[in-house]
Amino acid sequence: MIRGPILAIDTSCDDTSAAVTIGRYVLSNVIASQTELHRPYGGVFPTVAKQAHRENIAPTVDLAMKKARVKWADIKAVAVTQGPGLAPALEVGIEYAQELASQYQKPLIPVNHIEGHILSVLALPKPQRKSWRDLSTTMPKIKNALSVVVSGGHTEFVLIEKLGKYKVLGQTLDDAAGECLDKIGRMLNLGYPAGPVIEEFAKLGDPKAIIFPLPLTTTKTYDLSYSGLKTFARNKLEEMGGVEVLKKQGIYDFAASTQYAVFRHIMYKLSKLLETENVSQVWLGGGVAANATLRRMLRETIRNSKGQVTNPKLLVPYTKKLCMDNAGMIGVAATEITTAINTSFERKPRLKLA
Ligand code: KG4
Ligand code: ZN
Repeated sequence: MIRGPILAIDTSCDDTSAAVTIGRYVLSNVIASQTELHRPYGGVFPTVAKQAHRENIAPTVDLAMKKARVKWADIKAVAVTQGPGLAPALEVGIEYAQELASQYQKPLIPVNHIEGHILSVLALPKPQRKSWRDLSTTMPKIKNALSVVVSGGHTEFVLIEKLGKYKVLGQTLDDAAGECLDKIGRMLNLGYPAGPVIEEFAKLGDPKAIIFPLPLTTTKTYDLSYSGLKTFARNKLEEMGGVEVLKKQGIYDFAASTQYAVFRHIMYKLSKLLETENVSQVWLGGGVAANATLRRMLRETIRNSKGQVTNPKLLVPYTKKLCMDNAGMIGVAATEITTAINTSFERKPRLKLA
């Protein structure tokens, strides 16, 4: 285990992030958002992302260090997201982390981005009025926790048998849940990313106005599939005469029904999973985890589950910032994975690390 502050970097997609963590405590977590740059394209434009990461990385790291009130002499290691993600974007973070590690003579810890999302629930806020030097880190044992990762790139059920020992029990066979929300949101002209807009619009709409199909009910696996919902939405919109003819209420209803369909699919598979697997806790991570309706539906599903464990506890990240792509979760994961003897998540660097 690394004893002391870690400087962590994540440039996996469209946000440049740097954080300083110590154990499970997050001392600073800075995110330079590129959302406005990509909005005109309706998605992430790789070369624009790469250029923006290049411009933002140094000031973002400097700000994270400043906010955490640490100096390079205090830092014990540099952690960086090695993937999965957008290759040109990842490269910028990895190269900068390599430079810092060699300049300041610090070990470099490559971290799997999904492992970061999974372990984001373990992050703790720094207690106010306490210096990081006075924080002692205890690492409570983890056993049979089920992580539900719901993001723009991934939707999966991962069982953490113990620290570092992961088993993917199910995952999307095509689009991710966030991607599905974004794509249907695009059909409704809700801009990019559409997930948060859908959440707001859904509050004003009827989730049962349009009944979407429930995918993969005849398969016994815990895998998910979202491409069918996307096609259903396109056909339904056409049948209704196109988005142009929809009144405001029609858009709200479409958004509410979409959100309900996307989450209902996760709940259906999760309830089956909880019936058979020995799960003591459910962890929620990823960008879509910021959604309050998803959290409420998850709580209900867990409460009603007739599983081996009665009422497993639900853990969510302590702040929404830890749901989206951020380096705080990468720093926390770096501590966890260096505590574990082995981790079954691939940690072989995709670029040659010094
Ligand atoms: O984890 P994340 O920041 O990036 C990936 O690793 O993919 O997740 C981004 C995704 C996008 O699809 C975005 O629309 C969705 O998370 N998202 C939301 C909300 N906030 C972000 N979806 C639904 N409700 C939200 N409040
Ligand atoms: Zn992510």
